[in-house]
Amino acid sequence: MIIALGVPGAGKTTVLKSLKTDYKIVNYGDLMLEIEKKEFGIKDRDEMRGLPIEKQKKAQKLVAKALAKMEGKVILDTHCSVATPFGYYPGLPFEFLKLWKVEALVYVTAPVEELKERRLNDPTRKRDVDDIALHDEMNKGYLAAYSAFTGAPAVVIYNRNGRLEEAVAKMQSLLK
Ligand code: AP5
Repeated sequence: MIIALGVPGAGKTTVLKSLKTDYKIVNYGDLMLEIEKKEFGIKDRDEMRGLPIEKQKKAQKLVAKALAKMEGKVILDTHCSVATPFGYYPGLPFEFLKLWKVEALVYVTAPVEELKERRLNDPTRKRDVDDIALHDEMNKGYLAAYSAFTGAPAVVIYNRNGRLEEAVAKMQSLLK
């Protein structure tokens, strides 16, 4: 499994959609959203981070177990940490990483001003624009921990505004 990570708006999904690959792309948030809609009455993905942590963790764990049963080559689109009103919590607790065979951890990022602009210009989502730099910094700490725990390399990809093709080419080169 290759795991793609980054703060909201870093462009993980955009980069992954542009790949030419036989890897199956799985979005962790999509699977959690399905569960949280059924179990907790959530209506859209931007409400998810506001649920009590225990509820988020319940859905998070169900998805981790389902992923452990998934066969074939997978790229997982997810988060190093989730910024909630109650603090940051880990996207990939070690108990999950133990269940999966992790080949690489790919962190997608961009300068904070560009991330802010993208979040403000995306009318389809309600993303916060505060504390982006702190979240990016926290994520890099989590990334190093996940890499040390799994032994999988941590790769950082810069997805600069208007330079999507460079980020896609770097991600594509990792799949060889
Ligand atoms: P998810 O859907 O992954 O939330 P997200 O971080 O908000 O992801 P996005 O898809 O919005 O951001 P992105 O980085 O993919 O950026 P995008 O490509 O859209 O997850 C939803 C929720 O699920 C999370 O909030 C969390 O609650 C939960 N969750 C997920 N994983 C979890 C886990 N492991 N544990 C617990 N909870 C978890 O691009 C953004 C915008 O930028 C777009 O408008 C795009 O067009 C633009 N853009 C991108 N690249 C460029 C570029 N190079 N130049 C110009 N514009 C660009």
